[in-house]
Amino acid sequence: MTDLTVHLTQNDVVRGLRSDVLTGLTATRKTLPPKWFYDARGSELFEEITRLEEYYPTRAEREVLADRADEIAALTGARTLVELGSGSSEKTRLLLDALRDKGTLDEIVALDVSDAALESSVAILREAYAPATVHGVVGDFTQHLALLPGGAPRMVVFLGGTIGNLLPAERAKFLSALRDNLRAGEWLLLGTDLVKDRDTLVRAYDDARGVTAEFNRNVLHVLNRELGADFDVAAFEHVAVWDEQEERIEMRLRATRAMRVRIPGVDLEVDFADGEELRTEVSSKFRPARVAAELGDAGFELTKWWTDRLSRFGVTLAQATGA
Ligand code: SAH
Ligand code: TRP
Repeated sequence: MTDLTVHLTQNDVVRGLRSDVLTGLTATRKTLPPKWFYDARGSELFEEITRLEEYYPTRAEREVLADRADEIAALTGARTLVELGSGSSEKTRLLLDALRDKGTLDEIVALDVSDAALESSVAILREAYAPATVHGVVGDFTQHLALLPGGAPRMVVFLGGTIGNLLPAERAKFLSALRDNLRAGEWLLLGTDLVKDRDTLVRAYDDARGVTAEFNRNVLHVLNRELGADFDVAAFEHVAVWDEQEERIEMRLRATRAMRVRIPGVDLEVDFADGEELRTEVSSKFRPARVAAELGDAGFELTKWWTDRLSRFGVTLAQATGA
C-alpha cells in the first residue's frame, strides 16, 4: 500500500455524496456534481477515454507540454509541483522531467478525490523521481487548498480541462481560493479546452465505442453501492449536447422509461419521467480572452499562453500577483 495523506475519509465521502444527492435529485432540473464519477472503475474508464481517437484534449495538451516543458521549468524554477485532480499524472511527467533536469525539483504533491488513482500514480512517481519527496493527498480541490504541503516556489498544475467542469461561480471561487493559498510570485499552469466546431466537441464526449457512455453511467453504480440505491443503470442513456450560448458541453443521463428509484442512504424516493434528463457534468470550453480575464480577476498575472498546432487546447502559465 502506498501511504497517502487523507483529507477525505470514506465517511466524509459518503456524507458529501448524501448531501449532493439530496440537493441534486430533489431539484426541478436534476443534477449531480461530476466528482462522483471517480471511484476506482470511474478513474479507469477516464484513462480509457484519454486514449480514444475522438478525445483530442489529452493529446493536444500533451503536445503543448512536450514542446514547452523546458521553457516552463526555466521560467518558474519551481521546487514543488502541486497537481490538482492529478489522475494518472501521466502528462505531468513531461514537466517533472524538465524540472528535474533543471535541478530545481524537490517535492511533488498529487491531490485527487480518487484514492485508487493516487495509489498507482504515487508509487510510479516515487520510483521515477527519487530522491524528490512525493505527497499523495486524497482531497477535494474545492475544499483542501489550504492544506497543501511543499516548499516555495510552487507551481500548481491543473490539467485536462478539469477547470471547465466547474460552473462559472464555482470556478471564480476556486481560482480566488487558490490565489489566496499561494504567495506572490508562485505559479499556476492551467489547461483549458477551447471553443471549436460542434461536431468535434460532441464526438469527444460521445465516442463510437461507448466508453464515455459507460463512464457517465458509472455515477449511478456509485449511488447504488454507496447509498443502497436501486437505479436500473441500463435504463439510462448517455447524452452529450453542445450548449452554444454557454459554450459548454453538457453530459446528461436520460431515463428511457418512467421509473421510481429508491435511495435508502438518504431516505429518498425519486421519480423520473420517461425521457427526463439528469445533468451529470458540464465541460466549459474557453476563448483566450476569457481565460485571461478570469485569471486576472482572481489575482493572477498571465506570463505565457500556448496552444497545440491545431489550436484545440490552451495552456496558460500565470503568476500570483502581490496582494
Ligand atoms: N489531470 C488528469 C485527470 C483529469 S480527469 C488529466 O489531465 O488527464 C479529472 C480528475 O480530477 C480525476 O482524476 C478526478 O478524480 C479528479 N477530481 C474531480 N473532481 C475533483 C475534486 N473536486 N477534487 C479533487 N479531485 C477531483
Ligand atoms: N475534464 C474532462 C473533460 O471535461 C473530464 C471528462 C472527459 C468527462 N470526458 C468526460 C467527464 C465524459 C464526464 C463525461 O474533458
